Amino acid sequence: MSEPLSGRHVLITAGPTREPIDPVRYISNHSSGQQGYAIAEACAALGARVTLVSGPTALPGPAGIVTIRIETALQMLAAVETALPADVFIAVAAVADWRPAAPSDTKIKADKSNLSTLQLVENPDILKTISQLANGRPGLVIGFAAETHEVEAFATAKRVRKGCDWIVANDVSGDVMGGTENAVTLVTPVGQERWERAPKAEIAARLAARIAEAL
Ligand code: C5P
Repeated sequence: MSEPLSGRHVLITAGPTREPIDPVRYISNHSSGQQGYAIAEACAALGARVTLVSGPTALPGPAGIVTIRIETALQMLAAVETALPADVFIAVAAVADWRPAAPSDTKIKADKSNLSTLQLVENPDILKTISQLANGRPGLVIGFAAETHEVEAFATAKRVRKGCDWIVANDVSGDVMGGTENAVTLVTPVGQERWERAPKAEIAARLAARIAEAL
Protein backbone atom coordinates (compact mmCIF):
# COMPACT_ATOMS: atom_id res chain seq x y z
CA MET A 1 0.00 0.00 0.00
CA SER A 2 1.32 3.48 -0.79
CA GLU A 3 2.11 5.65 2.21
CA PRO A 4 2.06 9.28 1.00
CA LEU A 5 1.91 10.63 4.57
CA SER A 6 4.92 8.71 5.81
CA GLY A 7 7.32 10.93 7.77
CA ARG A 8 4.50 13.39 8.52
CA HIS A 9 3.08 14.16 11.96
CA VAL A 10 -0.69 14.70 12.01
CA LEU A 11 -2.20 16.11 15.22
CA ILE A 12 -5.95 15.73 15.70
CA THR A 13 -8.45 16.78 18.39
CA ALA A 14 -11.63 14.74 18.76
CA GLY A 15 -14.67 14.20 20.93
CA PRO A 16 -16.33 16.57 23.37
CA THR A 17 -14.76 18.40 26.27
CA ARG A 18 -16.19 18.16 29.76
CA GLU A 19 -16.19 21.26 31.93
CA PRO A 20 -16.72 20.56 35.64
CA ILE A 21 -19.37 22.35 37.70
CA ASP A 22 -18.54 20.29 40.80
CA PRO A 23 -17.10 16.76 41.32
CA VAL A 24 -20.24 15.08 39.92
CA ARG A 25 -21.63 17.55 37.34
CA TYR A 26 -20.31 19.00 34.10
CA ILE A 27 -21.13 20.92 30.90
CA SER A 28 -20.56 18.92 27.71
CA ASN A 29 -22.17 18.00 24.37
CA HIS A 30 -23.17 15.00 22.25
CA SER A 31 -19.97 14.61 20.21
CA SER A 32 -19.16 10.89 19.90
CA GLY A 33 -15.60 11.35 18.61
CA GLN A 34 -16.30 9.05 15.64
CA GLN A 35 -15.33 11.48 12.89
CA GLY A 36 -12.08 12.54 14.55
CA TYR A 37 -11.08 8.94 15.33
CA ALA A 38 -11.87 7.93 11.74
CA ILE A 39 -9.65 10.74 10.41
CA ALA A 40 -6.84 9.65 12.76
CA GLU A 41 -7.09 6.09 11.41
CA ALA A 42 -7.26 7.26 7.79
CA CYS A 43 -4.12 9.41 8.19
CA ALA A 44 -2.30 6.53 9.92
CA ALA A 45 -3.34 4.22 7.07
CA LEU A 46 -1.51 6.58 4.68
CA GLY A 47 1.64 6.27 6.80
CA ALA A 48 1.38 9.35 9.05
CA ARG A 49 2.50 9.42 12.65
CA VAL A 50 -0.72 10.46 14.36
CA THR A 51 -1.34 12.05 17.75
CA LEU A 52 -4.99 12.04 18.80
CA VAL A 53 -5.99 14.35 21.66
CA SER A 54 -9.38 13.11 22.74
CA GLY A 55 -12.08 14.22 25.14
CA PRO A 56 -14.14 11.55 26.91
CA THR A 57 -15.60 9.07 24.37
CA ALA A 58 -16.74 5.46 24.40
CA LEU A 59 -14.26 4.62 21.62
CA PRO A 60 -11.08 2.57 22.15
CA GLY A 61 -7.80 4.31 21.25
CA PRO A 62 -7.08 3.28 17.64
CA ALA A 63 -4.23 0.76 17.26
CA GLY A 64 -0.86 2.32 16.51
CA ILE A 65 -2.02 5.87 17.30
CA VAL A 66 -0.80 7.84 20.31
CA THR A 67 -4.06 8.76 22.05
CA ILE A 68 -3.94 11.38 24.79
CA ARG A 69 -7.09 11.48 26.91
CA ILE A 70 -8.11 14.78 28.42
CA GLU A 71 -11.34 16.18 29.86
CA THR A 72 -11.40 19.98 29.68
CA ALA A 73 -10.71 22.52 26.91
CA LEU A 74 -7.75 23.90 28.88
CA GLN A 75 -6.28 20.38 29.11
CA MET A 76 -6.92 19.86 25.38
CA LEU A 77 -5.05 23.05 24.47
CA ALA A 78 -2.13 22.12 26.74
CA ALA A 79 -1.93 18.60 25.24
CA VAL A 80 -2.01 20.01 21.69
CA GLU A 81 0.76 22.50 22.46
CA THR A 82 2.85 19.72 24.02
CA ALA A 83 2.36 17.48 20.96
CA LEU A 84 3.60 20.15 18.50
CA PRO A 85 5.41 20.39 16.12
CA ALA A 86 3.12 18.85 13.54
CA ASP A 87 2.81 19.04 9.76
CA VAL A 88 -0.97 19.02 9.93
CA PHE A 89 -3.40 20.05 12.68
CA ILE A 90 -7.03 18.96 12.38
CA ALA A 91 -9.47 20.33 14.98
CA VAL A 92 -12.41 17.96 14.98
CA ALA A 93 -13.27 18.22 18.68
CA ALA A 94 -16.52 19.78 19.82
CA VAL A 95 -14.89 22.01 22.41
CA ALA A 96 -17.27 23.51 24.99
CA ASP A 97 -17.31 27.25 24.35
CA TRP A 98 -17.75 28.02 28.03
CA ARG A 99 -16.65 26.61 31.37
CA PRO A 100 -17.84 27.28 34.92
CA ALA A 101 -15.73 30.13 36.31
CA ALA A 102 -15.19 28.53 39.70
CA PRO A 103 -15.94 24.80 39.83
CA SER A 104 -16.80 23.68 43.35
CA ASP A 105 -14.45 21.21 45.10
CA THR A 106 -17.42 19.69 46.86
CA LYS A 107 -20.81 18.60 45.53
CA ILE A 108 -23.18 21.55 45.35
CA LYS A 109 -26.28 20.71 47.35
CA ALA A 110 -29.51 20.60 45.39
CA ASP A 111 -31.29 22.69 48.02
CA LYS A 112 -28.90 25.59 47.54
CA SER A 113 -30.15 28.22 45.11
CA ASN A 114 -26.61 29.12 43.96
CA LEU A 115 -26.79 26.61 41.08
CA SER A 116 -29.36 28.85 39.43
CA THR A 117 -26.64 31.42 38.69
CA LEU A 118 -23.73 29.52 37.21
CA GLN A 119 -20.94 31.93 36.26
CA LEU A 120 -19.26 30.97 33.00
CA VAL A 121 -16.01 32.08 31.35
CA GLU A 122 -15.03 31.59 27.73
CA ASN A 123 -12.72 28.72 26.83
CA PRO A 124 -9.69 29.32 24.61
CA ASP A 125 -10.30 28.69 20.91
CA ILE A 126 -7.79 25.90 20.21
CA LEU A 127 -8.16 26.03 16.42
CA LYS A 128 -7.67 29.80 16.33
CA THR A 129 -4.72 29.63 18.73
CA ILE A 130 -2.88 27.06 16.61
CA SER A 131 -3.84 28.80 13.33
CA GLN A 132 -2.33 32.04 14.57
CA LEU A 133 0.91 30.67 16.04
CA ALA A 134 3.76 32.97 15.04
CA ASN A 135 6.29 30.16 15.49
CA GLY A 136 5.69 26.52 14.71
CA ARG A 137 2.32 26.83 12.99
CA PRO A 138 1.61 23.51 11.25
CA GLY A 139 1.79 23.88 7.46
CA LEU A 140 -1.82 22.79 7.04
CA VAL A 141 -4.47 23.67 9.65
CA ILE A 142 -7.98 22.29 9.20
CA GLY A 143 -11.08 23.15 11.19
CA PHE A 144 -14.58 21.76 11.29
CA ALA A 145 -17.78 23.76 11.25
CA ALA A 146 -21.12 22.34 12.31
CA GLU A 147 -23.92 24.40 10.82
CA THR A 148 -27.65 23.87 10.49
CA HIS A 149 -28.23 26.42 7.69
CA GLU A 150 -26.32 28.54 5.15
CA VAL A 151 -23.55 25.95 5.66
CA GLU A 152 -21.15 27.18 2.93
CA ALA A 153 -21.48 30.89 3.74
CA PHE A 154 -20.89 30.42 7.46
CA ALA A 155 -18.01 28.00 6.85
CA THR A 156 -16.27 30.39 4.47
CA ALA A 157 -16.53 33.19 7.04
CA LYS A 158 -15.27 30.83 9.76
CA ARG A 159 -12.19 29.89 7.73
CA VAL A 160 -11.15 33.53 7.61
CA ARG A 161 -12.09 34.29 11.23
CA LYS A 162 -10.15 31.34 12.64
CA GLY A 163 -7.16 31.79 10.34
CA CYS A 164 -7.12 28.12 9.32
CA ASP A 165 -6.42 26.86 5.80
CA TRP A 166 -9.38 24.55 5.23
CA ILE A 167 -12.78 24.13 6.83
CA VAL A 168 -14.75 20.91 6.65
CA ALA A 169 -18.33 22.09 6.94
CA ASN A 170 -20.82 19.68 8.41
CA ASP A 171 -24.51 19.97 7.79
CA VAL A 172 -25.85 19.04 11.23
CA SER A 173 -29.49 19.72 10.46
CA GLY A 174 -30.04 15.92 10.34
CA ASP A 175 -28.74 13.28 12.76
CA VAL A 176 -25.02 13.76 12.08
CA MET A 177 -23.82 14.42 15.60
CA GLY A 178 -23.36 10.98 17.12
CA GLY A 179 -24.49 9.34 13.87
CA THR A 180 -22.36 7.17 11.59
CA GLU A 181 -22.65 9.26 8.41
CA ASN A 182 -21.68 12.76 7.44
CA ALA A 183 -22.45 15.20 4.61
CA VAL A 184 -19.71 17.79 4.24
CA THR A 185 -18.44 20.67 2.13
CA LEU A 186 -14.68 21.22 1.96
CA VAL A 187 -13.89 24.94 1.96
CA THR A 188 -10.37 25.89 0.83
CA PRO A 189 -8.85 29.23 -0.23
CA VAL A 190 -9.70 28.38 -3.86
CA GLY A 191 -13.29 27.31 -3.50
CA GLN A 192 -15.75 24.73 -2.21
CA GLU A 193 -16.42 21.07 -2.88
CA ARG A 194 -19.56 19.31 -1.79
CA TRP A 195 -19.07 15.69 -0.77
CA GLU A 196 -22.05 13.35 -0.86
CA ARG A 197 -23.44 11.97 2.39
CA ALA A 198 -21.23 9.00 3.27
CA PRO A 199 -20.03 6.91 6.22
CA LYS A 200 -17.64 8.87 8.46
CA ALA A 201 -14.81 6.44 7.56
CA GLU A 202 -15.25 7.31 3.89
CA ILE A 203 -15.24 11.07 4.56
CA ALA A 204 -12.09 10.48 6.63
CA ALA A 205 -10.34 8.54 3.83
CA ARG A 206 -11.19 11.28 1.35
CA LEU A 207 -9.87 14.00 3.62
CA ALA A 208 -6.64 12.06 4.30
CA ALA A 209 -6.12 11.64 0.54
CA ARG A 210 -6.66 15.38 -0.01
CA ILE A 211 -4.16 16.17 2.77
CA ALA A 212 -1.58 13.86 1.15
CA GLU A 213 -2.11 15.66 -2.17
CA ALA A 214 -1.73 19.09 -0.59
CA LEU A 215 1.52 18.42 1.32
O1 C5P B 1 -16.58 28.41 16.38
P1 C5P B 1 -16.93 26.95 16.25
O2 C5P B 1 -17.04 26.24 17.58
O3 C5P B 1 -18.11 26.67 15.36
O4 C5P B 1 -15.67 26.32 15.48
C1 C5P B 1 -15.56 24.96 15.25
C2 C5P B 1 -14.12 24.62 14.98
O5 C5P B 1 -13.26 25.24 15.93
C3 C5P B 1 -13.84 23.14 15.11
O6 C5P B 1 -12.74 22.83 14.28
C4 C5P B 1 -13.46 23.00 16.59
O7 C5P B 1 -12.67 21.86 16.83
C5 C5P B 1 -12.68 24.28 16.79
N1 C5P B 1 -12.76 24.84 18.16
C6 C5P B 1 -11.64 24.80 18.97
N2 C5P B 1 -11.69 25.37 20.22
C7 C5P B 1 -12.82 25.97 20.65
C8 C5P B 1 -13.97 26.01 19.82
C9 C5P B 1 -13.90 25.43 18.59
O8 C5P B 1 -10.60 24.25 18.57
N3 C5P B 1 -12.85 26.51 21.86
